[in-house]
Amino acid sequence: MLQEKIGLPEDEIKRLIEIPPDFRMGDYAFPCYSLSKTLKKSPNAIAGELAQTLPVVKPIEAIRAVGPYINFFLDKSTQAETVLKTISKERDGYGRRDAGKGKTVVVDFSSPNIAKHLAVHHLRSALIGNAICNVYKTLGYTCVGINHLGDWGTQFGQLIVAYKTWGSENAHHTYTVTDLNNLYVRFHQEAETNPGLENEARAWFRKLETGDPEANKLWQHFKDISLKEFQKIYDMLGIHFDAFVGESFYNIMVEDTVTRIKEKGLSKVSEQALIVDLEPYQMPPCLLRKKDDTTLYATRDIAAAEYRKKTYDFDRMIYVVGSEQKLHFHQVFKVLELMGYDWANRCVHVDFGLMKFKDGKMSTRKGKVVLLEDLLIEAVERVRKIIEEKNPSLEKKETVARDVGIGAIIFADLCTKRNKDVAFDWDEVLNFEGETGPYVQYTHARLCSILRKYGKPVTIDINFALLKEDEAAILTKNLGQFPSVIMKAAEFYEPSLICNYLIDVCGNLNRFYNAHRVLSDDVELTKARILLVDATRQVIKNSLHILGMQAPERM
Ligand code: ARG
Repeated sequence: MLQEKIGLPEDEIKRLIEIPPDFRMGDYAFPCYSLSKTLKKSPNAIAGELAQTLPVVKPIEAIRAVGPYINFFLDKSTQAETVLKTISKERDGYGRRDAGKGKTVVVDFSSPNIAKHLAVHHLRSALIGNAICNVYKTLGYTCVGINHLGDWGTQFGQLIVAYKTWGSENAHHTYTVTDLNNLYVRFHQEAETNPGLENEARAWFRKLETGDPEANKLWQHFKDISLKEFQKIYDMLGIHFDAFVGESFYNIMVEDTVTRIKEKGLSKVSEQALIVDLEPYQMPPCLLRKKDDTTLYATRDIAAAEYRKKTYDFDRMIYVVGSEQKLHFHQVFKVLELMGYDWANRCVHVDFGLMKFKDGKMSTRKGKVVLLEDLLIEAVERVRKIIEEKNPSLEKKETVARDVGIGAIIFADLCTKRNKDVAFDWDEVLNFEGETGPYVQYTHARLCSILRKYGKPVTIDINFALLKEDEAAILTKNLGQFPSVIMKAAEFYEPSLICNYLIDVCGNLNRFYNAHRVLSDDVELTKARILLVDATRQVIKNSLHILGMQAPERM
């Protein structure tokens, strides 16, 4: 209708339509600025005229002009019917799309360094990366989650020397990552007075690069120890990777990659190292090979990108890595572009800020670094205590404590816009009344409890006009926005949008719940409100799952 009146193509109209910031201003708004030229009138006059002459037909209930905008009000019961029927039909699949059908997204995430503990930024990357994978899967993409382990570099020469020199003191000891870490520390201490150690280390790394069996066996041992510990944490978080393919894997490809770069005339020797000069792009050079011929982080990333394109033919490749590596990825993407790869602009660095602990560093009173595993265990422990205090007879306490404790960490991490620093404070993270994971999960469990109390099957055979109160209408509309929130989260690689959305939904639900009794003697009204409760439960559950959280039914 609008199309005939104003002579704009449908696509253009769709693009211009806005959602007013306040529901009292309508459900959709059309700004008339762009019509002003063709119709030779002021946008306000055009809006006024159109609001008068456009026919009001279902699902539209009213059309009003406000300044240069035409505001459309949807008929509340039609709106409720559309949204609630869709949710009831699609259930766990509500929000799914097939926009990404046939397309693959590679997500490089967490990617810790072996022989060291998983650091906080690897945790953040794991959580953000996992949520982004889930978002893209929901949109129909095939997602390949890759853990790009830092398992190559001169430091493994150092570790081999340290292990061979001091490790035997502990011949029967089962090594842990902490032990390996201590060996590094010892190496650096001793190397200060014994410079020969560095040479030895370099020699051992050369051996590793050339496939020496002894070097390889030790390195594999370090890797096994590390992977075992990493896996424990990923299991606690419920995070899965399609591949653990570390930097070492690309080492044999690096030679060919460097040859291609050379052939394109992109590289040159500078201070005996091989580099790609990026000065024309206002960046320091990208280092390909050091003067002792060993390869570097960036070179392995370039080789990895070529390999992944060949293997997965990705539509997009996402690197979830802290902001401190911004320059590194700019350089790598630039080199890929200079190599002539048209897919270079489909590589994205999804960066993020730091996690800051309220009482300064992430350390215990003794000044020792808190391990991530301890952080997760502590979260579960604290929730267990809360349950013991408030609801000691709860079923499956252990599982709930884990789901809520881990969920609290996940939500705390994801709810801040990713490029901002996260301020981590136990009291806030676990506050059941704040904007937290436990609050959202608790809201979900309360809805489940209402449905249990109701005890009958939920039906869509209701009188939708009964959901006309403001609180119900706002909540319903909010539920209807879920698919577009997922789309936005994908576009901006921003899981925090889903956290904000959840907080909105829970707020709207609570306003509805405080204003209206769900279970009453009025059978029809109860049926209608139960449907809304059930749909809200479903949307919260689906959102939590995308974030990588569980949705316990009792808390
Ligand atoms: N291992 C690196 C680190 O701990 C992160 C690797 C990120 N991924 C990549 N393809 N460069 O800093």
